[in-house]
Formats: sequence, C-alpha cells, structure tokens
Amino acid sequence: MAARNDQYRYGTVAMGFHWLIALLVIANICVGLYMGDLPRSDPMKFQIFQIHKSIGLTVLALSVLRVLWRVINPVPPIPRGMSAPLTFSAKAMHWLFYFLIVAVPLAGWIMVSASPLGNGTSFFGLFVWPNLPFFTGMTREALHPVHETFETAHVFLAWSMIVLVPLHVAAALYHHFLRRDDVLRRMLPGTHVTDPA
Ligand code: HEM
Repeated sequence: MAARNDQYRYGTVAMGFHWLIALLVIANICVGLYMGDLPRSDPMKFQIFQIHKSIGLTVLALSVLRVLWRVINPVPPIPRGMSAPLTFSAKAMHWLFYFLIVAVPLAGWIMVSASPLGNGTSFFGLFVWPNLPFFTGMTREALHPVHETFETAHVFLAWSMIVLVPLHVAAALYHHFLRRDDVLRRMLPGTHVTDPA
C-alpha cells in the first residue's frame, strides 16, 4: 500500500493519522467526562488531568501534521451517484472534523495557559509542555474572563465532537452496508478497492 492517497483509496499516512487520532479523541472524551465528575479531594484527580492534557496535546500535534498532509495530498473523491445534499454534508462534516481536532485541544491549551492556577502540563511524565506565553504577567482579574471563555469553548467544542463522532461512524456504516461502496474500505488497511469512486 502506498504512503500517499490516490484516486482509489487513502494511503498509509492518512490512514495512520485517521485511526490514531480517532482512538486518542475517543479516549480523551472518556477521560474528560470522567475527570469532571471526580471530587476535588480525589488524590488521582491531578494526575488524570495531566493525562487528559497530554493526550489532547498529542492530538493537537498530530492534527496539525494531518491538516498539512491533507493540503499537499488530495483525498479520494466522494463516490459517484450521491445526491447533492449528501455530498455537501459529507464534505462539510470532514472539514468540521479537521476544524474540531485542532480547535478542541487548542482551546484546552489556551484555557489552561490562562488559568490563574498557572499549572503547567507534565507531558506523560516526560517533560513539561509549556503554557502559551501570551498570558504571562497578566493579573488574576484579567486572566479570569479569558480562562472562562476558553473553558466554555473547550467544553462546547468537545460536546460538538461527542455528537458528531457517532454521526460520522453511522455515515461510514451507511456507505458500507447500505450503499455497499468502498468509502469505509478505502480507509481500512489491507482491503482491496477497485472502483475509483
Ligand atoms: C482531543 C482533544 C481533547 C478532547 C476530545 C477533550 C475533551 C474534553 C471533555 C469531553 C471534557 C469534559 C467536558 C465536560 O465537563 O462536559 C474536557 C474537559 C477539560 N479539558 Fe479537554 N479535551 C481535549 C484536549 C484538551 C487539552 C489539550 C487540554 C489542555 C492542555 C484540555 C484540558 C481540559 C480541562 C482543564 C478540562 C476541564 C474543564 C472544566 O473544568 O470544565 N483538554 N475535555
């Protein structure tokens, strides 16, 4: 299988990005929802936040690379015979996901960087991932609204993902089982795809 996409299917690089980011996003949604319910007194709470932030920052780095790869390496076409509204929603959904995989972790990073607590991120215990520099020297009063705004944005965008991920999965299954086209197969390693669209 080639590294680059062609008109038949995704290449190994795009597939690697897709499945790795998908796995990390789903894991981080679960960790994010779980940690929010933990009482302040829980001794593991701080560590679990560090894990959430580390996974999220990994997603951010991978997503930036993925978007760059997408820009220089066109994807296979939408299958022939799909109605105009379905083609539009498929394209809109894909661009929305590209936006969300960058915007969700970026909003999280801005939120913690503007936190009056000033906690850094221990990246999987390996090194300290720096906070964004824009907020250094700001007073607690000035930081507070910035932190609140990006907290709201992070939670809202994360919940948009929670709604859209099942729709995305449902669309892939619709292609595979009802339309019986190659849309799911061309994103799966080791499958044979013959029809360019
Ligand atoms: C793929 C990336 C990420 C996903 C899918 C994600 C998802 C979530 C979810 C579902 C929640 C819980 C929302 C709720 O309480 O209803 C959450 C909360 C949180 N996330 Fe993320 N997150 C990501 C990346 C990040 C990053 C990169 C950071 C910081 C560097 C971060 C920091 C936080 C914090 C501090 C909270 C708690 C917010 C609060 O107290 O309300 N997240 N995240």
